[in-house]
Amino acid sequence: MKVAVLGAAGGIGQALALLLKLDLPAGSTLSLYDVAPVTPGVAKDLSHIPSSVTVDGVGGDDPTAVLEGADVVLISAGVARKPGMDRSDLFNINAGIIKTLIGKVADVAPTACIGVITNPVNTTVAIAAEVLKAKGVYNKNKLFGISTLDVIRAEEFVGELKGIPSEDVFVNVIGGHSGTTILPLLSQVQNVEFTDQEVIDLTDRIQNAGTEVVNAKAGGGSATLSMARAAAVFGVNLVKALSGKQGIIQNAYVDGGNPDSPFFAQPLLLGKNGIDRVLPCGELSAFEEAKKQEMLSVLHADIKLGVDFVNN
Ligand code: NAI
Repeated sequence: MKVAVLGAAGGIGQALALLLKLDLPAGSTLSLYDVAPVTPGVAKDLSHIPSSVTVDGVGGDDPTAVLEGADVVLISAGVARKPGMDRSDLFNINAGIIKTLIGKVADVAPTACIGVITNPVNTTVAIAAEVLKAKGVYNKNKLFGISTLDVIRAEEFVGELKGIPSEDVFVNVIGGHSGTTILPLLSQVQNVEFTDQEVIDLTDRIQNAGTEVVNAKAGGGSATLSMARAAAVFGVNLVKALSGKQGIIQNAYVDGGNPDSPFFAQPLLLGKNGIDRVLPCGELSAFEEAKKQEMLSVLHADIKLGVDFVNN
C-alpha cells in the first residue's frame, strides 16, 4: 500500500509522517508532498528510522510523483487557526488549496481513498466531492473528512473525568467537525454514569477542545500532535481494511446517505473498497437529539458553502 501525505512539512504533516513511518504495515510506501522546499529533507530524516516502511518526499509545485500509485491520500495542506479565529475563518485560503490538490488527486490517483484533515472539514470535504464529481471520478465510499480527533479527545476527557483508562472508553462522536456540529453521544458510553451537568460540561469541552489548544499555543497554531495521532489511527486502520482486515470500525465525516445531512460524521465499517457499510448512529438521549436538531442548519450551511464555491 502507498500512502501519500499532502502538507507533509507542516505541524500535523511531519508528526503524522513520523507516526505512519512507525505504524504502517511492513512493506508500505510513505510519500510526502508539500510546497515547502524542506519536504525531501523531512523524508530523508524519516528514512533513517529503522522500519519496513519506505519514505520519499517532494517539495514545490507538483505533487504528481507523490500521488502516482497512491492507495490512500491524507491531506493536511493549508493554514491553521490563530487565537480569535474559528474554523470558518480558514475557508478563504484553504478552500482554494483543497480544490487544487483534489483536482490533482482526481487526475493522478482517481481511485485512491482520500482523507481530508484541512479545515473547515465540514466545507472542504464538500469541495472535494464537487471537484471529484466534475472530474467524473467521485466515489463516495472513498472520501473521508477525518473527525477522529473529536473521538480521541472525547475518550480522553471521559477517562480523565471518571478516573478510568481512556483506552477502555469508546465515544461515538457524530455530526460535523466544528463547534456545535461536533456531537458526542455520551449517553452511549458503556459502564459510565454521568450527571446532567457533567453531560453539559463535557459536551461543551469536546466541542471547544480545538480552541483550548489554539489559545494555549498563543498564536503558534492549532492542534498538531493530537491531530497527527488521530490521522495516523484513521490512516493505519484504513490501510489495514483496504488490505483485507475485517471488522474495522472508524467514525468519519462522509457522504453516507444520512437522512439528517448530505455529509455527516458517523461510524463506518471499513473494507477493501473504503466504506463497506455506513453504520447507524444508535439511540440518542433527549439532550443529544435536541443538540443535533439545533446544529443541523449550521452543518447544512457549511456544506452549501463548499458546493457553491466549486460550482459558482
Ligand atoms: P501548518 O501551517 O503547520 O502546515 C500546513 C502545511 O501545508 C505547511 O507546511 C504548508 O507549506 C503546506 N501547504 C500550504 N499550501 C499547500 C499546497 N497548496 N500544497 C501542499 N502543501 C501546502 O498547519 P497544521 O497545523 O499542520 O494544520 C494543517 C491544517 O489542518 C489546517 O487547515 C488546520 O486547521 C487543520 N486541522 C484539522 C484538524 C482536524 O481535526 N481535522 C485538527 C487540527 C488542524
